[in-house]
Amino acid sequence: MEVIQIKDKRFRTFIPEADILKEVSRVAREISRDLKDERPLFLSVLNGAFMFTADLMKRVDIPCEVSFVRLSSYEGTSSTGKVKELVGLSEDISGRTVVIVEDIVDTGLTMRQLVGTLQARNPKDIRIATLLVKPDKLQVELKLDYVAMRIPNDFIVGYGLDYDGLGRNYRDIYTIAE
Ligand code: IMP
Repeated sequence: MEVIQIKDKRFRTFIPEADILKEVSRVAREISRDLKDERPLFLSVLNGAFMFTADLMKRVDIPCEVSFVRLSSYEGTSSTGKVKELVGLSEDISGRTVVIVEDIVDTGLTMRQLVGTLQARNPKDIRIATLLVKPDKLQVELKLDYVAMRIPNDFIVGYGLDYDGLGRNYRDIYTIAE
């Protein structure tokens, strides 16, 4: 087990790269099977999903497109609370099958809001592919079509996920060490 230090926190190896890739391959097979006639548009949510997206796309073997979006947080008015604005979507998604590629679904609020924003652009279908989900923290009803791994509530880093901007480059996933 490897222990790493990022700023004030220590993390230990939790999911090694080989185990991650096994599950990413399974998800790629499921998507390729389900959407072979759809020419889906994969929408990767930056920054966290960049590594998952690269490994997933190398394993999807059907005709498809890939694009990258970002959700920029800003404080809305007191009535709307925290709002995340969708940035970078230049494709016309009307009538298309869209697969959102996300790093981790925690409360699910981010994903629900993104699905709502995309829904307004009249796609044929929206699916969610997430590397990770913390099922015990989900606060909203959300159909997660493709899930690579389910994990406990603890904070994790690596394989694209960060702690205060750091740790995205690690090839394994690390969990907080007590
Ligand atoms: P949600 O809206 O609560 O589902 O939050 C989802 C976002 O929170 C993810 O896209 C991540 O950016 C971030 N996040 C949630 N849990 C973790 C974690 O354990 N490590 C790093 N980022 C996380």
